[in-house]
Amino acid sequence: MTTEPNGSTRAYAITGGVPLRGDIRISGAKNAATKEIVAALLSDEPVTLHNVPDIGDVHVTLEMLKGLGAAVTFSDGTVTVDASGVSTPEVAEALSRKNRIPILLMGPLIHRFGEARIPALGGCTIGARPVDFHLAALKAMGAVITCDEQTYTASAKRLKGAVITLTYPSVGATENAMLAAVKAEGTTLIQNAAMEPEILDLAKLLQAMGAIINLDVNRTWVIEGVPILHGAVHRIIPDRIEAASFMVAAAITGGDVFVRDARQDDLLSFLNALRRVGVPFRIEEDGIRVSKSERIFPIALETDVHPGFMTDWQQPFVMLLTQAEGVSIVHETVFEDRFGYTEALTRMQANIQLHRECLGSKACRFVNRDYRHSAVIVGPTLLKAADIRIPDLRAGFSYLIAALIADGTSRLTNVELIERGYEDIIGKLKKLGAQIEVEG
Ligand code: UD1
Repeated sequence: MTTEPNGSTRAYAITGGVPLRGDIRISGAKNAATKEIVAALLSDEPVTLHNVPDIGDVHVTLEMLKGLGAAVTFSDGTVTVDASGVSTPEVAEALSRKNRIPILLMGPLIHRFGEARIPALGGCTIGARPVDFHLAALKAMGAVITCDEQTYTASAKRLKGAVITLTYPSVGATENAMLAAVKAEGTTLIQNAAMEPEILDLAKLLQAMGAIINLDVNRTWVIEGVPILHGAVHRIIPDRIEAASFMVAAAITGGDVFVRDARQDDLLSFLNALRRVGVPFRIEEDGIRVSKSERIFPIALETDVHPGFMTDWQQPFVMLLTQAEGVSIVHETVFEDRFGYTEALTRMQANIQLHRECLGSKACRFVNRDYRHSAVIVGPTLLKAADIRIPDLRAGFSYLIAALIADGTSRLTNVELIERGYEDIIGKLKKLGAQIEVEG
């Protein structure tokens, strides 16, 4: 029995070979919920969010807000945050964990206190790549940012509207700039910005709270600052990553699954890829039905920022391509290191080779940078069951999918990582007939 650093010994035992069949409902989007909970800090009136997924990342974000003094309730998918009692500009390190949500609190806390103190996880070089765009955006709006020991301190009497041009359309940096701009003095342009559906959903909540915010041509958000935001009620969009993950699980097991609440609007490029590999699907009024394909065809695809093929769909889709008849190529252009998970798949007999070259129609930011960011997948291969420790959230779901088609019983450990992002994953898979047991 393996014990994880957090003390957990839980594992999933999955026996492959059962086609998934039935009907499941997609939960609210993790990547919208966490940011929208943070947005509630911008008002002194209660903000109510419906369709909030009951997952680890949401609980961590709610605890973070409670630590600041906000009153928070969460039941039956509805969160209410009343931030009127927030009494400190300092985010406790113990609550910040290893996700990038804390950095998004900078703007809202500066608006309240003229200052924000945020733990700098993994060290605090101001130029650290994962947050350099975030810090540059806030500096452009007048924040002075310093780093002492393990904490970023950002201060400004009043944030000012600015023209911010992102080096790359980063999701987090766009959201960070938005959360700061809605109450800044004057107008902010965020150019070369991200426009993922979850960001549009955040913009809708901010507008409901009284913000003046618009998506202009050429990836530009235009935000006129207002002095006060009020409370609002908002329903979070369904999770397009969960939807795609279950569609792949249905297709790869040769099943037939109705994915309720999957929205075509948010899945256009995913559905095109599904069509090209030959998986039949039908768009229905309240969801999408995926059914068994006679053959799976190989394809070449590249991940990209929205409206391109999303990087979080890459892992489940690579699983599907291990069962395609021929050679497929996937060029990952958003993150430089998102193929590490394929090593365990290779142990299960998948035929996947990684390359440093840009194997796509265009060179990406990672050209000549020594990152193994292109994958060549040769299929179909019969996968063998294996014991795998889950390294991260999205890789985790791929291993689940691999185990669902593998010959024998696989054991997945460190499963809390999957539960950080997927609501009731065991309940949903069991409902579709998967042979999955929780140990420990
Ligand atoms: C968000 C999503 C994640 C998704 C990703 C891309 C959440 C909680 N997570 O992550 O699921 O895969 O968008 O759609 O919403 N970068 C920098 N400097 C920065 C910020 C980003 O170099 O200051 C780089 C990153 O290293 C990466 C790229 O920009 O190579 C994209 O990152 P970003 O869009 O910011 O991703 P996240 O917001 O972290």
